[in-house]
Amino acid sequence: MDSVLSYFLCFAFIGARVTAENEKICFPNKFLFGVATAAYQIEGAWNVSGKGESIWDRYTHSHPERVFDHHNGDTAADSYHLFKRDVDMMEQLGVQFYRFSVSWPRILPNGLSNEINEDGIKYYTLLLDELKAHNIMPLVTMYHWDLPQSLQDLGGWTNPIIADYFVDYARVLFEAFGDKVDTWLTFNEPFSFCFDGYGGYDAPGAHGSGFEDYLCGHNVLRAHGKVYRMYQQEFAETQKGHVGITLDFAWQEPATTSDEDQHAAEVVRQFFLGWFAHPIFSETGDYPPIMRKRIDYISKRQNFPRSRLPTFTSDEIRMIRGSADFLGLNHYTTYLVKRNRNKIAPQPSFMTDMGGILSQKPEWPKSNSTWLKVVPWGFRKALNWVKAAYNNPITIITENGISLEPGLQDSRRVNYIDGYLRALHNAIIKDKCNVVGYTYWSLLDNFEWMRGFSERFGLYEVNYDSTNKTRTARISAGYYSKVAQTKCLPVSWV
Ligand code: NOJ
Repeated sequence: MDSVLSYFLCFAFIGARVTAENEKICFPNKFLFGVATAAYQIEGAWNVSGKGESIWDRYTHSHPERVFDHHNGDTAADSYHLFKRDVDMMEQLGVQFYRFSVSWPRILPNGLSNEINEDGIKYYTLLLDELKAHNIMPLVTMYHWDLPQSLQDLGGWTNPIIADYFVDYARVLFEAFGDKVDTWLTFNEPFSFCFDGYGGYDAPGAHGSGFEDYLCGHNVLRAHGKVYRMYQQEFAETQKGHVGITLDFAWQEPATTSDEDQHAAEVVRQFFLGWFAHPIFSETGDYPPIMRKRIDYISKRQNFPRSRLPTFTSDEIRMIRGSADFLGLNHYTTYLVKRNRNKIAPQPSFMTDMGGILSQKPEWPKSNSTWLKVVPWGFRKALNWVKAAYNNPITIITENGISLEPGLQDSRRVNYIDGYLRALHNAIIKDKCNVVGYTYWSLLDNFEWMRGFSERFGLYEVNYDSTNKTRTARISAGYYSKVAQTKCLPVSWV
């Protein structure tokens, strides 16, 4: 079976196919284009065929008022039943791979591997077979935020034991699907689910900023490292697959040319990306030194007997360092950073620890998400920063996309993708960033977490009111199919 990363690894810098006469922008032949989704956001069937409850089921059911439109993912786009239609859409697009996630509680209803839900295994087996029949390679995320509620009842990602439970879950996945999947992502955006979920108001809604978010991050890094090592020991020889992790990285641009804002922006990058990337991808491993220093110092000032940022043992540092065959990178937007000159408040806060104030320029083009402004040049800068910081790792863009209001005439989405792909092309060809694939988020409209169905990222529009959740191609689907099939940016796409 071909794998996404095997393709990528064969990739050599053969140069862009830029034809001088018409200025066509082309990616190398081996470069791959895909689309992404995640289980809770599209599957629905939340309590069907033995699936257990996840933290997002519990949270949206017990706090519908916290979700912008009071909806939940109970049915979502119903991809549990309509996955064949989804694969048809991918065939229409002509993408080479599909990034999707496995729902942990669909496989292990109570989170633990003593009870495996065979219907869950069957569902993903059918999906993988369908993909293979259409010649679309799978790129599989093990954890895209839908933790089994029973594990959250034990403290979720703040309880160190969860690293072992995650290893047990991963082993079940490698055993069940390892012959069909050989490019894996352990986690999707640990920054987001630790910062927003344990430090803020996403599920499980712990809002323990500056404390629980760090415990979460610590155990996620331990869990990731353990799974990587377990795969090497138990599966790599026979399955010959690749294991990576997806991290999110918005570009952080200094708000002014002053030294203090330059420095503040660099600190923010270390807190946002370095928190997870430094332990895995740097030569020295462990947390970024500036993060360690600031949190240790501020914890002391706040009278804590020890730092709020936990400490790895030297064995853990070694285990986690180098524990990825490639980096998955999600990138959507850019912020400006100013130094925060406020006094240190007595209560813990990630934002205080980080010490930067973030903003965006009002003139940057908007999307339908408050946080997402269109700034393609930030993408190129982010990629160059990754190249310099981590020795130019093999990178797959595992998400990039824009939310817009409902409607099929989404030329602004076309402009977004086109602009970001031009920036990516420059990063690859001119700057020699080692990026080997691009994934548009998302194949279809889906449940956008606390924003419900109000923010639509899909190349395909979903009619949530129709009984069969009708999917209809937007203008951008036509554009992206040209990109995916020709590997060139089209001059016209309608
Ligand atoms: C990142 C997350 O991985 C995904 O679940 C979310 O829908 C998109 N960004 C858009 O916000």
